[in-house]
Amino acid sequence: MDDKQYISGYRIYAPEQSRRTMRNLLPEFYPDLPEGKFQIIYADPPWDYGGKMQFDKSSIKGENEGWKRDIFISAANFKYPTVKTKDLKRIPIADICDDDCLLFMWVTNPHLAQGIELGTAWGFEYKTVAFVWDKMSHNPGQYTLSNCELCLVFKRGRIPRPRGARNIQQLVRIPRGEHSVKPDVVRDNIVKMFPTQRKIELFARSRAKGWEAWGLDVREERSYASADALAVSEPPALFD
Ligand SMILES: C[S@@+](CC[C@H](N)C(=O)[O-])C[C@H]1O[C@@H](n2cnc3c(N)ncnc32)[C@H](O)[C@@H]1O
Repeated sequence: MDDKQYISGYRIYAPEQSRRTMRNLLPEFYPDLPEGKFQIIYADPPWDYGGKMQFDKSSIKGENEGWKRDIFISAANFKYPTVKTKDLKRIPIADICDDDCLLFMWVTNPHLAQGIELGTAWGFEYKTVAFVWDKMSHNPGQYTLSNCELCLVFKRGRIPRPRGARNIQQLVRIPRGEHSVKPDVVRDNIVKMFPTQRKIELFARSRAKGWEAWGLDVREERSYASADALAVSEPPALFD
């Protein structure tokens, strides 16, 4: 019988994982933090899943090119280098926080506990769920179908003043976009809530007006690459 019929996701995934995993090239594993203090911090950390596969519809169209049939294969660390919680804790975020400061932080549902652990390690107290993003389509889940992601809010000192809008809704209903891209409306809503405060987006992928941005993707120099690009291993032949 034709070999192709016996190809399992795992047989393909293992070599693909070593080939596609993004590696951080910075000698220090994070870029320098900016000078000064911020009252509002907005963060979307690169949570590490130990290379575990994730459901990602965008990979079906983009990354399976040339394959005989559409096979889902993706992981967060195919898109950017991921960082273990213990290492995220080592980034000295407390150094850039004002005495009165809020941290708005996205957590993936399996990383809720680590999210609270990380906010606490950075010197904040967990307060509540600031935003619930209903992505309006579900992914498979072990327990229920998964269609929401949470943005938690943590506080250090008092809530920064003066305050702006007090009528922002917790629930945001926006269709999911490309892998891990968060809806702009959340960032915009934080601005409405705290229009005058100095704000920074951590782990940013773009620069938003009124925000400082920090992260591997907003550096000018190339700071990560896949094993493929670094030629550290031979890409495996698929289906041979
Ligand atoms: C979950 S993504 C952020 C997505 C972003 N919020 C958006 O809406 O497009 C995490 C980001 O953290 C960056 N990152 C990974 N390792 C990092 C490190 N050691 N220091 C700083 N940024 C890092 C990744 O390159 C990626 O851009």
